[in-house]
This record gives sequence, structure tokens and C-alpha cells, in this order.
Amino acid sequence: MDFRPTPSQGGKPLVSIVDVRKTYVMGHAPSGGGLFRRRGPSQTVTVHALRGVSVDFHPGEYVAIMGASGSGKSTMLNLLGCLDRPSSGQYFLGDRDVSRLDDDELSEVRSRYLGFIFQSYNLIQQYTVLENIQLPLTYQGGGELSPEAVERSVELAKMVGLAERLDHRPTQLSGGQQQRVAIARSLINDPYIILADEATGNLDTKTSHEIMDMLQRLNDSGKTIIMVTHEDDIAEHAKRIIRMRDGQIIEDGPSPRMLAAAAAAEESAAAVEA
Ligand SMILES: Nc1ncnc2c1ncn2[C@@H]1O[C@H](COP(=O)(O)OP(=O)(O)OP(=O)(O)O)[C@@H](O)[C@H]1O
Ligand SMILES: [Mg+2]
Repeated sequence: MDFRPTPSQGGKPLVSIVDVRKTYVMGHAPSGGGLFRRRGPSQTVTVHALRGVSVDFHPGEYVAIMGASGSGKSTMLNLLGCLDRPSSGQYFLGDRDVSRLDDDELSEVRSRYLGFIFQSYNLIQQYTVLENIQLPLTYQGGGELSPEAVERSVELAKMVGLAERLDHRPTQLSGGQQQRVAIARSLINDPYIILADEATGNLDTKTSHEIMDMLQRLNDSGKTIIMVTHEDDIAEHAKRIIRMRDGQIIEDGPSPRMLAAAAAAEESAAAVEA
């Protein structure tokens, strides 16, 4: 697959989703005289998780997606992460429409270009810290890891402060340490985008701030980050905040932190002029 979006593609978005809808149809017509028969022959429930969402993300952005429970945040992140396909609409990664790729192609896009951090860490319990960090490489196939790949995984373990824990298993680590393994894992392929769904949802306040500081440094170094959170103080780290309600984007703009920085810059420019 020849998808290579780079910042050199000018002002073009890294990711663009166009009028995306996601509908879940659940249930089926009951057969025979079951308990629920009297509720009628068609027992399907249709959930409109996304109702026509269009949005662009550019290289280097740091975006928080907020909204009430059930508003479609995870659905949107899963589509962005190629973990799922839209029911209709288009999803461009660089110039390429990935909304119609088959499962194998989607998993290739995922393992090459995207990094994931989940609320529940999603580490493999039988694997060591190092093996968990290397996991996306082993999904790519190719047998033995190269010495460079092993070195890179050790470097990432160091970067997240787990150099002394390479052979430990997830059960021997705190929640914050497990999430740091997940961050290192998300970086092993040098992804274009890091997608985080409630990454600090299981962590205490202090540990949450450590994880957010780590994401901040990654964004400072140029990584594009899109995260879902329902906590204002977590969203405050982002540069842009998107708010969702009932499967739609209802607000999209700079975060208070960016607005304050812009106001301060304007004020100091005015002071220089005066
Ligand atoms: N696999 C699924 N099958 C059926 N319905 C689903 C599925 N996944 C999500 N939904 C429904 O789609 C809607 C949006 O769900 P989603 O998980 O995106 O919400 P969310 O904003 O992430 O909520 P939360 O803050 O609780 O995580 C909800 O009504 C949910 O019940
Ligand atoms: Mg969710």
C-alpha cells in the first residue's frame, strides 16, 4: 500500500472524513413462539451512532473529542482508527479513500500508520513489557524482529520510564505504568496519528497528569493526537476541542488554552505598539 501522507503535502489535511454515518442494526425477527413474540415480528433496533459527520485533521494537531456518553465519540475514533468502517460517507487518509478497504487492507493501514491508546490499556497479559511494545511489529509479519526494531522498542521503554521493567508482565505494573507501555507500543511504528480513547479514564489525577505530559511532549515533537475524553481538565491539554451530541459535531474550535495564548499574544503586540 502506497499511502504516504507527510507534512510536505502542503495545507492538505492528514485525515478527512466526509458526511460519515454509522448505523448499527441490532436484533432480528424472532422465530417460533418465544417470550418476546408478542412484541411483533420485526425486533430490530436501529442506532444512529454517527449522523453525517464531516471533519478534517491536519498534521501536528492535538484534538480532544468531547460529549455525553453515547454521543458517538468512540464510534468516531474507531472509524478514524480503521477499527471499523462507516455505513456511508468517505474517509480519506492522505489522498486515499480508506472507507472501502477490506479487513486485511484496513489492518495494514492500522499497523503502519496509526497508534492506539485505550482506557483499559489492552496489553497482552502473558507478554512482557518489551513484547507488548513490539506487538504491532509482529502483526506486520516478517518473522524475527530486526536488531534495530528490538533496539527501538528498548528505547521507547526507556522513554516512558520503564527501562528497569522490560521483562515484567502487565500484572506486575501499576495502571499508570501499564498505560505507559501502551504509549510506547503506540509509537513503535512511528505512526502518523495517535488515537486515544479515555486514556486516563482508569487513572488517578496525578498519574493522569503524567500521561498527559507524555502526550504533550509527543505533540510538541510533531505527532498528531486525537483523543476522546469527557473530562475538561484533560481536554484542556488539547489545542482544539470538538463537541459531539447525538452523533453529530455541535462545536469545533480552539481550546481555552489556545484562546488564552492568542489573547496574550495580541496583548503583548498591542503593548509593543503603544
Ligand atoms: N457495536 C455496537 N453495536 C450497537 N450499538 C453500538 C455499538 N457501538 C456503539 N453503539 C451505540 O452507538 C452510540 C454511540 O456509541 P459510542 O460508543 O460511540 O458513544 P461514546 O460517545 O463513546 O460514549 P461513552 O462516553 O459512554 O464511551 C450509542 O448509542 C451506542 O449504544
Ligand atoms: Mg466511548
